[in-house]
Amino acid sequence: MRAVDLIVAKRAGAELSDQELEFIVNGVATDAIPEYQLTAWLMAVCWQGMSFREAAKLTDLMAHSGTILDLSEVGPTVVDKHSTGGIGDKTTLVFVPLVAAAGLPVAMLSGRGLGHTHGTLDKLEAIPGFKTNLSTDRFKRQLKEIGMAIGAQTKEFALVDGKLYALRDVTGTVESIPLIAASVLCKKIAAGANVIVIDVKSGSGAFMRSDKEAIELAEMLHKIGAKLNKSISCIVTDMNQPLGIAVGHTLEVIETIETLKGRGPSDLLEVCLSLGSLALTKAGRARHDTEAREILSDVLHSGAALKKFKELVQAQGGDARITDDYSLLPNAPVKYPVVSHQHKSLWVKEIDGRRVSSACNLMGAGRMKQGDNIDLAVGVEIKAKVGDQINNGEAIATIYGKSAEQCKLAAGELEKAYAFSEEPVMGLKLIKKALN
Ligand code: URA
Repeated sequence: MRAVDLIVAKRAGAELSDQELEFIVNGVATDAIPEYQLTAWLMAVCWQGMSFREAAKLTDLMAHSGTILDLSEVGPTVVDKHSTGGIGDKTTLVFVPLVAAAGLPVAMLSGRGLGHTHGTLDKLEAIPGFKTNLSTDRFKRQLKEIGMAIGAQTKEFALVDGKLYALRDVTGTVESIPLIAASVLCKKIAAGANVIVIDVKSGSGAFMRSDKEAIELAEMLHKIGAKLNKSISCIVTDMNQPLGIAVGHTLEVIETIETLKGRGPSDLLEVCLSLGSLALTKAGRARHDTEAREILSDVLHSGAALKKFKELVQAQGGDARITDDYSLLPNAPVKYPVVSHQHKSLWVKEIDGRRVSSACNLMGAGRMKQGDNIDLAVGVEIKAKVGDQINNGEAIATIYGKSAEQCKLAAGELEKAYAFSEEPVMGLKLIKKALN
């Protein structure tokens, strides 16, 4: 077989056989297929799509490109959660200690920044000393010791996803339902959990811009899971504005801690509680949503979830003092307000997450090419969300940057993210659909 023939076949819309997909996945694992050919193949998949059989086979092959963890020693039930990617999405950072504090072990393989989204692993690395490259032994040991672990794709774990993910990030080949489904699910299969909940984001800041596409992705995740003997539950959530108020690695860690202290934004908390409730009811820890929310609310307000977060940080080498002293996190010295210059009072209609992200990326928060260092300190705090009324001269956001020039550049981009209306605007519906 030759890679070039498989690129041409996919470009023409052909369905690849199991053997052909195996050739590609092996070629990634062994570096036998160069990145320029892989990129061409990924782009052909973005345009031509995949049949359900191809997507399921690709998922299975990618999962088996590394170790599949057997977590039976950890307990009968282990939870995992994933998001398909959005702006300001720090749900995992809250979800893991919250659900672990409720007594369920949580094993997660997460990702770095992808396309316009910032990644969970990068956010965690804003915590001084925090390590995400866990060996399979350490991952399992930590799960047994403290009931939670967040790891990265490594040579041992989901090897092929690690390589394709980094390549897709910088080659415009993220937005493809089968590629996203295979990338998400191979990590969930490798991490070995048996209660898996997925947050499928829908809207301008997500990879799936419409509810129709997001539901299609959720259905594909569900169906591939069923074929590969993994029960997958999804909720489709809104991403027509950033989640919470913080966008940018350090700011999102701070917002996580504030949420665990009971002072977080209501939309972020609601997504965490919805996913947490789904996990607790699926695992049999709660009989129904009301009971699950009571348990989660108790561990949040008693401080147990925050204590779990500190344990997680410590176990993965991080400095847990950050929970009491935010100055230990990477610091952006300049705070720059972005104010409304409209001549009258208006309502916020939409906040385009991609623009918010590119404002952050203009300050160095995203990678331009593989292996780039990113600036973990810079970011944006959203002051006005959809439905809020804004008067002339009021702040719509604050930019955290390294210099006033950098902040001004980001402010220009951020202003374009906002759309206003002269009429009052309703807040957005956060949870759009659930698929159990
Ligand atoms: N998250 C992943 O792990 N992979 C994708 O392709 C998108 C979101």
